[in-house]
Amino acid sequence: MTLLIGTSTKMNLTSTEAGAYLDVLRPLLDDVTDREVFVLLPFTAIWVARDRLTRSRIRWGAQDVHPDDAGAHTGDVSAPMLADLGCSFVEVGHHERRRDHDETDELVAAKVAAVQRWGMTAIVCVGEVERRPLEDVGPQLERQLRLLSDFDRSRLVVAYEPAWAIGVGAQAASPPWVGQAHAAIRELLATPGGPASSSSSSPAIPVIYGGSVDPNGAAALLAEPGVDGLFVGRSALDPRAFAAIAHTPI
Ligand code: PGA
Repeated sequence: MTLLIGTSTKMNLTSTEAGAYLDVLRPLLDDVTDREVFVLLPFTAIWVARDRLTRSRIRWGAQDVHPDDAGAHTGDVSAPMLADLGCSFVEVGHHERRRDHDETDELVAAKVAAVQRWGMTAIVCVGEVERRPLEDVGPQLERQLRLLSDFDRSRLVVAYEPAWAIGVGAQAASPPWVGQAHAAIRELLATPGGPASSSSSSPAIPVIYGGSVDPNGAAALLAEPGVDGLFVGRSALDPRAFAAIAHTPI
């Protein structure tokens, strides 16, 4: 499976700042040909990604979407609007959206449907809020993944993002922890009749890790079996750090 290395800049970068960011980042990633790299910008800067990244290998996308295609939803942004801007990826269900906007697993699933309806790939964030023994984490992951069973596996990415490992002051989960959590997610994805369960002919769903990833820790995380990529937050706000992570030898 091709490694996926991506970032969400969260609520950072004006469109002017995004232009400067991408102008530095793009040449730094020119030689990355064996992995897929993506950048998820705020809605207001996605047009800049289309402007700066068209005809590059870097793909771009959004950090959220409304489940409906159009209508009376003041301030919201729909999947056709994102597809029209050339988005390849749309993140849904990030912990900060579940926390700040009370997003439920049902709403997250409806957003996945919208993203796929418009030909884009949904990156679904799952993970536990409190640090707990892994056997207690399983049921929470199962609940978050259960509603994904009807979706197109070829346009689905699962991002394991334990909330306790996200953000300023946090530390990335240890590689062995991440390896075990990814194995549990993989098992849930493969359970017959379970979330997006597989058949022998169906493609594997990439499972990527996010939460305080930085250039120093990236190699150990990628070395863990079952880690198909990394989803980077604040350390990728420095384009050179993000490029370093994208170049991590494995
Ligand atoms: P962080 O964010 O790297 O700043 O912890 C990760 C994420 O939320 O995906």
